[in-house]
Amino acid sequence: GHPFVAYRDKTLHVEDIALDTLAATHGTPLFVYSKAAMLAALAAYQRGFAGRHAQICYAMKANSSLGVLQVFARAGCGFDIVSGGELDRVLAAGGEAGKIIFSGVGKTRAEMRQALAAGIGCFNVESEAELDVLSEVALAAGLRAPVSIRVNPNVDPKTHPYISTGLKDNKFGVAHEDALRIYQHAASLKGLKIVGIDCHIGSQITDTTPYLDAMDRVLDLVGAIEGAGIPLEHIDFGGGLGINYNNDTPPEADVLWQQLLAKLDARGYGNKKLMIEPGRSLVGNAGVCLTEVLYVKPGEHKNFCIIDAAMNDLPRPAMYQAFHAIVPVLVNGKETPAATYDVVGPVCESGDWIGRDRELAVAAGDRLAVLSAGAYCMSMSSNYNTRGRAAEILVDGAAVHLIRQRESSQDQMRHEHLVAG
Ligand code: LLP
Repeated sequence: GHPFVAYRDKTLHVEDIALDTLAATHGTPLFVYSKAAMLAALAAYQRGFAGRHAQICYAMKANSSLGVLQVFARAGCGFDIVSGGELDRVLAAGGEAGKIIFSGVGKTRAEMRQALAAGIGCFNVESEAELDVLSEVALAAGLRAPVSIRVNPNVDPKTHPYISTGLKDNKFGVAHEDALRIYQHAASLKGLKIVGIDCHIGSQITDTTPYLDAMDRVLDLVGAIEGAGIPLEHIDFGGGLGINYNNDTPPEADVLWQQLLAKLDARGYGNKKLMIEPGRSLVGNAGVCLTEVLYVKPGEHKNFCIIDAAMNDLPRPAMYQAFHAIVPVLVNGKETPAATYDVVGPVCESGDWIGRDRELAVAAGDRLAVLSAGAYCMSMSSNYNTRGRAAEILVDGAAVHLIRQRESSQDQMRHEHLVAG
């Protein structure tokens, strides 16, 4: 699952770049991304949609660094955004406003105005109350807002409860049984132009069945809505396709879409414009986080391997008990004996672990790579414990681009003020 991250001459490489020298030059913790891996992940979707009217909108919450956005913008992607801040980032990275869709349950009026002024492609509206406000804001600006309504297909994506979103009791979308009525209400609002329908059932989905079920449920609604005289230009099927973290076997994007498109065709919707919002599957396995072992601390029941990356850099284990593989950067057969470690960071919380019960042959000063760190790591990082955010490198063949410099304490304190007097 990591073809652009591989050992050569007993040294872990990202594309043509040896990670030990990179870490020595730029310090750790250090995120390193492969541009080729991102484009290869994108290509799987592009193959799946060959010959179709489709738009891939990268769900940038997975990794919103400008250098990453630029890769996808240049490859022709649109973007799925969830805030005015994300809109600013897309435009700064050269993304096209017309290919932006705006998701999220809590858009503010100011964000709506900003997105209307920029001319985004579609608002994915998540409630009836939001429809009313959006219509009002658009009318006040003398515009009509292009909208899609997020419907909740009520299928179980069989993933972690914190990242499953398509079930009835989630805060997202409108209930399947209310969807037609809400579409009719939307059609009556003068500030709106209905352009589509969307759903998103969860994240890190490794099973095809929930997708097929969700497609059936959404197509049932497309039939009902169009039958009521409300035409829909596009179907946005969200994101959610999983990646291999730990012997996970998600379908390839093109294989999944072959099945979904067969269903669309069979039900007579093969000519509809398709949109998708993949995040993790485009960037997750394109990135690693390099870290250095600070101390090895043996214990009676547990050995700890204390590294210089922490939950502020890699929050997924603490938040979701997520698994990230942790591997040595160099495997040059030093005489260090292997032992079982909990790999932990310097943050003052017991929840600050990155891996549990890992077999590693490590000594202080060794470098490790935390794999599958391209998605939901930097974008969810924090400054807890006044730790600066890590630096980020984009590798492109033999070229190394620093896309984010390490954050200093001065950077962190820039917007704070002491009280005068
Ligand atoms: N579209 C919508 C409306 C979403 O809410 C999400 C993710 C996506 C697309 C992209 O989903 P993806 O293709 O990346 O699965 N922080 C969690 C994941 C949260 C996902 C939130 N929504 C994690 O680290 O696992």
